[in-house]
Amino acid sequence: MKFSGVLSVLALAGAAVAKPGTKYPTTTIAGVEVVDTQIVRDARKLIEVFNGLQPYLYKHLYRTWLFGAAALNANETLKNTVDLELHAVGTILHDLGWDMRPNSPWVTQADRFEVDSGVAAVKFVQEQVASNKCSAKKWNADRLEKLYDGISLQTELSIIKYKNIQSQWIVNSVGLEFPGPRNPLIPEKDYNNILAAYPNDFLFRGSNITFTYLAGHKPEGSYNTFLQDFGVAYVPGYDPSGHRLFDILHEGLEAEVEKHPNATIYS
Ligand SMILES: *[C@@H]1O[C@H](CO)[C@@H](O)[C@H](O)[C@H]1NC(C)=O
Ligand SMILES: *[C@@H]1O[C@H](CO)[C@@H](O)[C@H](O)[C@H]1NC(C)=O
Ligand SMILES: *[C@@H]1O[C@H](CO)[C@@H](O)[C@H](O)[C@H]1NC(C)=O
Repeated sequence: MKFSGVLSVLALAGAAVAKPGTKYPTTTIAGVEVVDTQIVRDARKLIEVFNGLQPYLYKHLYRTWLFGAAALNANETLKNTVDLELHAVGTILHDLGWDMRPNSPWVTQADRFEVDSGVAAVKFVQEQVASNKCSAKKWNADRLEKLYDGISLQTELSIIKYKNIQSQWIVNSVGLEFPGPRNPLIPEKDYNNILAAYPNDFLFRGSNITFTYLAGHKPEGSYNTFLQDFGVAYVPGYDPSGHRLFDILHEGLEAEVEKHPNATIYS
């Protein structure tokens, strides 16, 4: 293909990719204007299962989306910079790995819940694309990576800090949702409406139960993460020793000293 040909193909592909500031169809939930595209509706449908089984999680997912959307709506610059459809899908699906059903389609043994959630969200979008419910060009690899990064790094604030703004806003919204002093980014009226529609009465107790469950049911996916502390505190027989990076490093250290006893830092 000639160079000019490549350029025109790229321009075409670019035109189909969701641009920050894209105007999407919207609806209003708890007084907050939110994106109302097919994929956002389908993401909402996907988490309906939690409404009965883990209602604190269901409300947490809604509040995370709505608090983030309210903060973005209140700032014209941010509203035009952040991809609001990506934000919606990312926040709504950010804790699929909290699923406590024994046959969960999203929870693995080996991976931490943040990774399970990120993988599950990307798979969900890929399935939507495969069944022609949304466009593969719009959900290109770059957008999927931002979705994955935002979800999988949700508890790694020191890493997300230097990532792109799209991934950061998935994480920022999780932060806005945690109880504490009201964040001035969210208009007072929105705060009140969101909390009235999705009350936050049980999130800490609910996450205590979920994190303990995950440490007990998938210990491999909990070592070297903060879930390890829930395992140590609450799961009988839970023992991370031998799995922690500290232990793994010390095992290597002993073998190294035996093999090269006289080496120095300058060897
Ligand atoms: C909107 O957000 C941007 C980026 O965080 C910030 O620099 C700006 O001060 C905000 N504007 C208002 C009016 O709050
Ligand atoms: C937190 O979870 C553990 C394990 O289920 C339980 O023993 C403890 O009572 C819980 N704490 C509260 C305050 O609910
Ligand atoms: C290490 O040093 C000691 C004392 O100088 C020496 O006896 C020993 O043979 C050395 N070991 C090796 C593996 O070089």
